[in-house]
Amino acid sequence: MQYPKDIITEILMSEEEINTRSKEIAQEITKDYENKNLVLVATLKGSVPFFSSVMRYVNLDCEIQFIRASSYVGNTTLTTGKVKVTSPTEFDVKDKDVLIIEDIVDSGLTAKSLFDYFNERGSRTVNICSLLDKPSRRIVDVKPKYVGKVIEDKFVIGFGLDYNEKYRNLPFVGVINKKYI
Ligand code: IMP
Ligand code: MG
Repeated sequence: MQYPKDIITEILMSEEEINTRSKEIAQEITKDYENKNLVLVATLKGSVPFFSSVMRYVNLDCEIQFIRASSYVGNTTLTTGKVKVTSPTEFDVKDKDVLIIEDIVDSGLTAKSLFDYFNERGSRTVNICSLLDKPSRRIVDVKPKYVGKVIEDKFVIGFGLDYNEKYRNLPFVGVINKKYI
């Protein structure tokens, strides 16, 4: 079954643009993390497509790990303000350089919780690489080191981003048609 034809009102990042930005960002990461102890951490589930796009072009000896952070509940587009961080597999970040790969930084609450999580566990550095950034929505002061694209305050789906757990498999990022919310 396919999604409704009018599910998207505007494409914000095409497949081609995502590929191009992923390669550019991976090149920057390769340069910035040379001689560091890099751990690329994907936040489940939203960052999986972007994570796989970026990591394959990172030309360094690095680890990949997964973490889960949830700040949204059920079929809502509003943040609850609370973020739960859980690790599906145990891994050690002591003295390592953690680069969190995110789908989107919105209020910044998730990013802040992840910063705290890794800092408490002794990582040497913690930074964020996000496919999308909505700076106008920020309620805590966090700034991703790498951003695919800065976007306005619109609810987007695709390339990992969901609405009520759907649409993550769209190969591009688009604005959801309000009639489906
Ligand atoms: P934050 O903690 O408010 O920065 O929210 C981060 C998380 O909220 C992301 O990892 C997404 O799961 C979700 N989110 C924020 N904005 C959007 C959106 O426009 N579409 C889909 N998910 C979003
Ligand atoms: Mg989500």
